[in-house]
Amino acid sequence: AGTGKFFVGGNWKCNGTKESITKLVSDLNGAKLEADVDVVVAPPFIYIDQVKNTLTARIEISGQNSWVGKGGAFTGEISVEQLNDIGCKWVILGHSERRHIIGEDDQFIGKKAAYALSQGLGVIACVGEKLEERESGKTFDVCFQQLKAFADAVPSWENVVIAYEPVWAIGTGKVATPIQAQEVHVALRDWLRKNVSAEVASKTRIIYGGSVNGGNSAELAKQEDIDGFLVGGASLKGPEFATIVNSVT
Ligand code: G3P
Repeated sequence: AGTGKFFVGGNWKCNGTKESITKLVSDLNGAKLEADVDVVVAPPFIYIDQVKNTLTARIEISGQNSWVGKGGAFTGEISVEQLNDIGCKWVILGHSERRHIIGEDDQFIGKKAAYALSQGLGVIACVGEKLEERESGKTFDVCFQQLKAFADAVPSWENVVIAYEPVWAIGTGKVATPIQAQEVHVALRDWLRKNVSAEVASKTRIIYGGSVNGGNSAELAKQEDIDGFLVGGASLKGPEFATIVNSVT
């Protein structure tokens, strides 16, 4: 941790029921969270209102995705305007599940980021390589190409947090080692310095995601360029998520 305020997001993905989310929110409300950390949760869209109305802890809400432009005749989509209306402050864009399962490409994701920022939402911009890409030595190329698509589209980085999520670490229990994560975070920051500006490189938070849990977060948080986490599975357990939030001290 070294850049700005530590940032921890909980991406609940397509999980939960009214009942389980009631319990999760009550656990979060009861948890003691480190004051100096930005904490965000991204519930499935249909539960955002429930979470917003019951969460008392100072936790901001994020969408898990948003439509690429103004809302309208786009069946099944959720607009940035609607996320704003319901009280979201953030949206996760470019998550690997949307890139590789749904098929979103770099340009489409870049446009989404630009539109969300233009409407005042903060963007959690995800990048990360697949296992075969890592094994063939393409980790940096893949991450830089994804980062460039964001850089080409966004007018400002002020409201952007970058999430490095290696695909091979997501939901697999195979967390990147602190050294592996730090190495990519440094490379991403370096890319920003060379291609955007020194100021953006030094101010933009780069968080890590992929099998982060209550047992490994403290070691990862010690790395200079890991400025927080994007947590999937472990964010569905209130006490464990609180441990991860509090892992930077
Ligand atoms: O967005 C967070 C995520 O993709 C990581 O998921 O379950 O490996 O923590 P998980």
